[in-house]
Amino acid sequence: MGHDKLRKFAENETFACLKQPSSAEVLLRTGEPGLHLRDHALKGRWGADVFGNANPIVLELGCGKGDYTVALAGRFPEKNFIGVDIKGARLWKGAKYVTENAVTNAAFLRTRVEFLEAFFAPGEISEIWLTFSDPQLKSPSGRLSAPGFIRRYRKFLAPGGVIHLKTDSRFLHEYTKAVVNASGYKTLNSSIDIYGSTETLPDVVTSIQTFYEKMFLAEGYPITYLAFTPDGEPAEPSFDEKFWKEAEGGRRSFSHAPHKKP
Ligand SMILES: C[S@@+](CC[C@H](N)C(=O)[O-])C[C@H]1O[C@@H](n2cnc3c(N)ncnc32)[C@H](O)[C@@H]1O
Repeated sequence: MGHDKLRKFAENETFACLKQPSSAEVLLRTGEPGLHLRDHALKGRWGADVFGNANPIVLELGCGKGDYTVALAGRFPEKNFIGVDIKGARLWKGAKYVTENAVTNAAFLRTRVEFLEAFFAPGEISEIWLTFSDPQLKSPSGRLSAPGFIRRYRKFLAPGGVIHLKTDSRFLHEYTKAVVNASGYKTLNSSIDIYGSTETLPDVVTSIQTFYEKMFLAEGYPITYLAFTPDGEPAEPSFDEKFWKEAEGGRRSFSHAPHKKP
């Protein structure tokens, strides 16, 4: 491991806003197939124990350096924000900013999205942002907007809670729209080109850009946005994988490859 990463990991240990539970804290070894989770001490207690208030809590999943978490926290002091990612070296950037600027309504959680129901109680979360998630072209169940993930989110998302998906991947945008349609969910906003459209979008959609967004914009790719309320059981979509894979072209398997980018 490089010196820079080691330095960031060491500094991460000093950030009170960054929670880094070990897998052993939430994973139960039952010997049975499947994922078995045990509740973490923070489950249902983020407001009281981390933020010291009962304000709504918004998650950014796969937050990387935490760009949305930090920017939204600055704009909405009446809400709390938690960025979730598995990569400590990326979370370091957001956690350092929050620490150095004494931001009181933002925190970070280093864990897998698959483990989130161990950390959040029913109704504890009011909104979820998925920002530039890997489109997982070969693994439908691995997409963070797949029915399996939405089923998980519904365990802690309050009724009427919103999921926002911002992505450069038209494939992931269309796939998620197909899930929304199959599940009968209400669409609040949908745009296939947020900077090129005349639709009225929430200001935070166009005025905050993440690390990956800037990269994809520089490459000339349109940015899409979808917001919906997942009220009800999610359903498997009817989706033309082949057509949208071809429309996506070859670049994304490269650009989203975790080992290629910081
Ligand atoms: C393409 S990057 C986007 C990062 C950031 N949202 C941005 O726009 O700059 C995707 C991020 O999702 C994280 N990620 C992917 N799958 C994950 C999972 N199952 N649990 C936690 N983090 C995950 C990766 O570590 C990576 O930082």
